[in-house]
Amino acid sequence: MIRLPLETERLVIRPFEPERDAGPLHELWGNAEAMRFIPGGAKARVDETRGRLETLRGRGRDGWGFWALEERESGRPVGGVGLFPLNWEGPQIELAYHVVPSAWNRGYASEAATAVLVAAWDDGLDHVVAVAMPGNAASRRVMEKLGMTLEGSTRYRELDVVRYSIERPD
Ligand SMILES: CC(C)(COP(=O)(O)OP(=O)(O)OC[C@H]1O[C@@H](n2cnc3c(N)ncnc32)[C@H](O)[C@@H]1OP(=O)(O)O)[C@@H](O)C(=O)NCCC(=O)NCCS
Repeated sequence: MIRLPLETERLVIRPFEPERDAGPLHELWGNAEAMRFIPGGAKARVDETRGRLETLRGRGRDGWGFWALEERESGRPVGGVGLFPLNWEGPQIELAYHVVPSAWNRGYASEAATAVLVAAWDDGLDHVVAVAMPGNAASRRVMEKLGMTLEGSTRYRELDVVRYSIERPD
């Protein structure tokens, strides 16, 4: 169970505020090229992105969910990170992360994911999985930087994906 907000060196992890976050996050969720590795792809309109944020906010339960990433210095929403039952079904807990393209490759996904993993280990969770489409090199690199191990291929939302996992450190 993750208690919010969580602060990292450069980010705050907090619940989504759909009205405030939809515009900034539409830079990613409205971008078909950037969303090509995400099941369901991009949202055409910003109100669809807002609806997605409202759905995600409503899905959070038992301390699991998908939350906003906000830059501490600027207050700008720059993405999302989450831990939730795999494909919202479980039983394993899945790690996921999204960052808007204008903030890519600054280490934000890795920084946010590290913070939620540490919080999860502290809370007693002992195993986390993550999935990505095989060609999603940036996402796979984040998993590697987190110390996750490639387990192999599996199916996820009717797609072929690679699956990584990590155990709580001793
Ligand atoms: C995947 C994503 C969250 C990464 O966010 P980020 O904040 O840029 O990630 P980080 O900066 O922590 O790390 C990215 C790493 O991938 C590397 N990378 C980026 N693009 C790459 C590419 N095309 N090929 C190989 N490596 C790549 C970066 O160099 C960096 O590694 P490094 O620190 O060793 O240099 C972001 O690209 C994104 O939101 N993509 C769209 C949504 C998505 O695919 N989410 C993941 C779903 S599984």
